[in-house]
Amino acid sequence: MSVPSRNVNRGGPSQSAAGGTEWPPSWNVQPHGISVGRYIDPAFMRLEYERLWSRVWQVAARLDEVPETGDYTTYEIGDQSVVIVRVDQSTIKAYHNVCPHRGTALAQGSGRFGSCRIICPFHGWRWDLAGNNQFVLERQEFRGGQLRDSDVALRAVQVAVFAGFVFINFDPNPQAFDEFIAPVRPFIEDLAIGDMHHYCSCRWGTR
Ligand code: FES
Repeated sequence: MSVPSRNVNRGGPSQSAAGGTEWPPSWNVQPHGISVGRYIDPAFMRLEYERLWSRVWQVAARLDEVPETGDYTTYEIGDQSVVIVRVDQSTIKAYHNVCPHRGTALAQGSGRFGSCRIICPFHGWRWDLAGNNQFVLERQEFRGGQLRDSDVALRAVQVAVFAGFVFINFDPNPQAFDEFIAPVRPFIEDLAIGDMHHYCSCRWGTR
């Protein structure tokens, strides 16, 4: 992406003489709106990934993208990928979409895990839908034969379901979801969004 140099300090925030952080003018909020630098500066984007998306509740899917047990869909934000899975009629879970062996992505796009088993396409390690490992090829070869189940369980991401949306949060100790959603809860409930259904997606080439 080419970036107009007129508005952008490519170095991002800098230290002020007083030791505080000074933002480039191109990131300032103006009386008439938000400066363009916030939208196009890679340094601002990196800060968002580091300080916002890594710890905020965010919509990752609609419930009706995963209507049946074993259904999954994936969600990407920055360099992170998450797989969202319906475990049973009342349980949705989300995992880092990464095999704990060599980091292979466990799922692409959306679909259904056959026989309710998540199987890594690389060496066939296997998990149930709750993220418990069921199979490690040549298990005795790892950690001197002392591999624990917890070592190879899928790494869960925090999940909350509200109004048909599946929210995820990468922070293991996130803000309480009820507190997060409280300011907009009445508006969303008035719109009956929970009764609406998902018909198609325009995600970045994931489906
Ligand atoms: S990378 Fe997944 S089983 Fe080896």
